[in-house]
Amino acid sequence: MKAVCPGSFDPMTMGHLDIFERAAAQFDEVIVLVTANPHKNSGLFTVAERKELIEESVAHLGNVSVDHWGGLLVDYTTAHKVTALVKGLRSSLDYEYELPMAQMNRRLSGVDTFFLLTDEKYGYISSTLCKEVARFGGDISGLLPPHVVEVVRAKYARR
Ligand code: PNS
Repeated sequence: MKAVCPGSFDPMTMGHLDIFERAAAQFDEVIVLVTANPHKNSGLFTVAERKELIEESVAHLGNVSVDHWGGLLVDYTTAHKVTALVKGLRSSLDYEYELPMAQMNRRLSGVDTFFLLTDEKYGYISSTLCKEVARFGGDISGLLPPHVVEVVRAKYARR
């Protein structure tokens, strides 16, 4: 069975990587999909950069690939015959945010969303918070994969 892990991933975090690894252990094939979020502005990284950072992080997972999509998520899943979405849930805040999207996606196409509870080590990590900490020179090591930490630091160093 094929699953898609969709998200903005600007940039991916250790929490995201944990979800990709756990999804890869449960599904035959996993596609990490860098997807446009109409509520978020252009972001720190381009879609191509986000995709590249994820590709490097999942190179050890033989059944995981990375793609990008600018339209409705369900148009991608239908076109690729994917019947499962996988997302991480850190807290009840995530649940409130994810519930209507999962129900809407199911209504639109029949695709089901499977939620994995975030490992407690990563429960407080978000791309947004990591960017804020890095922007003001705080330590983000251990929150993002090491090569992602480097490029985030480099981005802010150039600003
Ligand atoms: O990492 P994010 O930003 O929380 O991910 C949200 C995302 C990108 C998965 C969501 O915004 C999305 O699915 N966007 C694609 C457009 C779409 O299908 N919108 C309807 C969602 S019900």
